[in-house]
Amino acid sequence: MNIPVRRFDTLILGAGGGGLRAALQLARADAHVAVVSKVFPTRSHTVAAQGGVNAALANVTPDNWHWHMYDTVKGSDYLGDQDAIEYMCRAAAHLVYELEHAGVPFSRLESGRIYQRPFGGQSREFGGAQATRTCAAADRTGHAILHTLYQQNIRARTHFFDEYFAIDLIHDDEGAVLGVLTMDIATGEPLVIEAKTTLIATGGCGQLYRTTTNAHINTGDGMAMALRAGIPLQDMEFFQFHPTGIAGKGMLITEGARGEGGYLVNKDGERFMERYAPNVKDLASRDVVSRAISIEVREGRGCGPNADHVMLKLDHLGSDIVAKRLPGIRDTCKTFMHLDPVDTPIPVFPTAHYAMGGIPTDRFGRVVMPSGDSPEEVIPGLYAAGECACVSVHGANRLGGNSLLDILVFGRAAANDILGFLKNNRYHRPPNQACIDKAYERFARWEKRGDGESVQAVRADLKKAMEDHCGVFRTEKIMQEGIDVIKAIRARIPDVRLQDQSKVFNTARVEALELENLADIAIATMRSAEARQESRGAHSRIDYPDRDDAHWMKHSLYTLQDDSLDYKPVRTKPMSVETFPPKKRVY
Ligand code: FUM
Repeated sequence: MNIPVRRFDTLILGAGGGGLRAALQLARADAHVAVVSKVFPTRSHTVAAQGGVNAALANVTPDNWHWHMYDTVKGSDYLGDQDAIEYMCRAAAHLVYELEHAGVPFSRLESGRIYQRPFGGQSREFGGAQATRTCAAADRTGHAILHTLYQQNIRARTHFFDEYFAIDLIHDDEGAVLGVLTMDIATGEPLVIEAKTTLIATGGCGQLYRTTTNAHINTGDGMAMALRAGIPLQDMEFFQFHPTGIAGKGMLITEGARGEGGYLVNKDGERFMERYAPNVKDLASRDVVSRAISIEVREGRGCGPNADHVMLKLDHLGSDIVAKRLPGIRDTCKTFMHLDPVDTPIPVFPTAHYAMGGIPTDRFGRVVMPSGDSPEEVIPGLYAAGECACVSVHGANRLGGNSLLDILVFGRAAANDILGFLKNNRYHRPPNQACIDKAYERFARWEKRGDGESVQAVRADLKKAMEDHCGVFRTEKIMQEGIDVIKAIRARIPDVRLQDQSKVFNTARVEALELENLADIAIATMRSAEARQESRGAHSRIDYPDRDDAHWMKHSLYTLQDDSLDYKPVRTKPMSVETFPPKKRVY
């Protein structure tokens, strides 16, 4: 098969905030940069981020990056790498001001400064009073950031491959990554894009679950590509459930709603968070609030005819605050629930939201994996940033507002390292043909005709299995069953067939490739979760209810090819300040 080839200095997979921030840095430095996106760039999932981006600007309450760092380490349940967390929190203010100057229409305080709201897990003075650290553009912060970054990239002449689907990484004989095989969704034709460096910024995998805040596009494509290339995924057992998805539907109701003064009640009208987090109540970190809601429902204090959710009350805030600070969630409630939160509480329940785990990287965005004696050998030419990556700044639980920050900080960091790499690697190397042939085979396999199951049937079973066996609360028995169920579902995929074999804009082809990606990530998640015999952050085991630092303060690494797990230490030494040692985590 003679596949057409395009060549660039650097290739970015994904046009969310991480990919676009990296692309901008590279294009402005005159690198020849291409971005591949399976959707039009401004439809990437960053557009859906609501509440804001954390930076210790101190516009509302006293603040500094070191308090932000403490909160992030504590929020991560001490599994975050403290060098990377320091780097991120120190860079935050600069990156937010840079966005402001690039044109992001942040909401404003009376003083004209950037508006900031309190979010969960934020404190002053290392665990003291609530801090107010989340910089917001109403409740459409991701939308504002993504559109600004896209416009700036157009200005900087970044090359976009809109609506191209990345199938698999290609490499040379020494293992250096040299680009990807893609499919042009409009024509169904393959295209090889070769590059001296490749940055994976494909976002998360929330489509693993039935009820999720994530867009349909969040199928973990980059994570699965890395797995298939033999790169282990890190900390996949840590999947965040956002406390306030619309019950039964999953749409996000921003944590900013509680930041603005909203609160949760059970069927008795009780503000139950006072029992679970007496100090900060509804602004405890997400894992704590999600567990509290699940317990309320499990113990019979849920609302509605099926007692299966709790209520988020905003009706005391007044229509001015809701209209000014929360217009997006008001629209969502009106459209999908036919209710106006100005006068009616919103039914909510924890909803799959964010993968803390992903492709292991260092704080320069370089993808690393164990090799010989080194737990973190750099893979030449390969970078990852954003939700698909695990730096790890979020450890076992991410704080709200730190994901927009993560994509900006590590998108830029990766781009800076790529510029150095390009100086020392000036020429394209020849890719390994067998590797291209293998990627092509995976793509062409969907041409097979005949009878078979549908993609939709298998995908629905996969999502149900993840929800039933790898949710907020977990036990050994449930997860062992889950592993068997997921393996059986994966075994059905070779017999799946596309009913519509046409090539032109056939989204069924895309969904089939996405199904393969989801299935690989599901097994990585379930296996990593079953093995971790402790409760930490978002990983909550009924059979092992306590955190066990002596045995489990370590990152997990799952390898697909031999279905194996390995572990590596947490980097507890920050760049310039003292380590925050593990403590009991109370809010
Ligand atoms: O609740 C939210 O607005 C989500 C923010 C985040 O996940 O960082």
